[in-house]
Amino acid sequence: MAKKILVTGGTGYIGSHTVVELINEGYEVVIADNLSNSFAFVIDNIEKITGVRPYFYKTELTDAGATKAIFDKHPDVCGVIHFAALKAVGESVEKPLLYYHNNLFSLINIIQAMEEIGCHNLVFSSSCTVYGQPDELPVRETSPILPALSPYGNTKQIAEEMIKDKAGISELKAILLRYFNPIGAHASALIGELPIGVPNNLVPFITQTAIGKRKELSVFGNDYQTPDGTCIRDYIHVVDLAKAHIISLERLLDKRNKNSVEVFNIGTGKGYSVLEVINAFESASKVKLQYKFAPRRQGDIEQIWADTDYANEELKWCAERNLFEMLESAWKWECNLGTLNL
Ligand code: WQD
Repeated sequence: MAKKILVTGGTGYIGSHTVVELINEGYEVVIADNLSNSFAFVIDNIEKITGVRPYFYKTELTDAGATKAIFDKHPDVCGVIHFAALKAVGESVEKPLLYYHNNLFSLINIIQAMEEIGCHNLVFSSSCTVYGQPDELPVRETSPILPALSPYGNTKQIAEEMIKDKAGISELKAILLRYFNPIGAHASALIGELPIGVPNNLVPFITQTAIGKRKELSVFGNDYQTPDGTCIRDYIHVVDLAKAHIISLERLLDKRNKNSVEVFNIGTGKGYSVLEVINAFESASKVKLQYKFAPRRQGDIEQIWADTDYANEELKWCAERNLFEMLESAWKWECNLGTLNL
């Protein structure tokens, strides 16, 4: 009998790639998503990739009754991967209460509904934003959690604390994955990053500029204390990130976790500057990118990349795809988007 997993936010960028990997591993998947930042066609393309159609419920997870109804329909769910959240750093500064309400109420409802059916295994989508601008690099899981630079980052910090507090007095077991910068797309180019409106993130803005949807890329700041003056980030292929979720889930299902809550940095351990990403994109796509230097973006940290030793050794997980492959897959996805008649 296949084990059944609930994936909240499963039609989203990272969620959809994780659903594909779960199905590939033989799991039965239930997706709950409110489609506020994703599209229902993703379900069709997951089926095209895997040959299996996951259950899908359009659900407002900030509604406790609606959340409980999912578990009433599927009381055999044995694990939850919780992606559903708003994640635009800049937007969170403009709309803080929307972010606190959405990101925290949905998590509370999920944890309560899990407990009611006796499901104790939670993989949670956290973020390297909890570190702020680290004093030392690479950043470790034991590095200090600095005051969040945005309400979005604060919701991730608060969420981690909520999970730890609940796990401390219940049977809840959780693994918190602190993502660095997910980019790229599935090799099929049937799923990928699909921001609604003007992209906040670097890589979709690059690919949309290269294909002619945007006039030129603004590079936010070239006066940082970095080798080429532009910010440095740890970019990780979204499929490598998705695979880390399967490994974490199975660690919980097999009761191999060593603490009720475990935290892992999920990055590559390498940092690349914005200009290095642009150069890598040009060689991967054979397209010359139009860009200009612009003022720094408020809230950006200067540089961050992960120390991944703990995840590599403890999870036996390692990122396998390099920057060229990440950008080549992002470009293939952008080129294929035109054929998906959205
Ligand atoms: C990367 C670099 C920008 C756009 C993201 C997510 C956040 C979190 C961490 C999950 C920065 C520069 C960008 C542009 C640019 N992930 N840039 N021109 O800010 O690191 O945050 O990863 O929790 O949710 O948003 O990623 O892609 O926005 O920026 O120069 O048009 O690219 O200044 O240095 P960021 P990003």
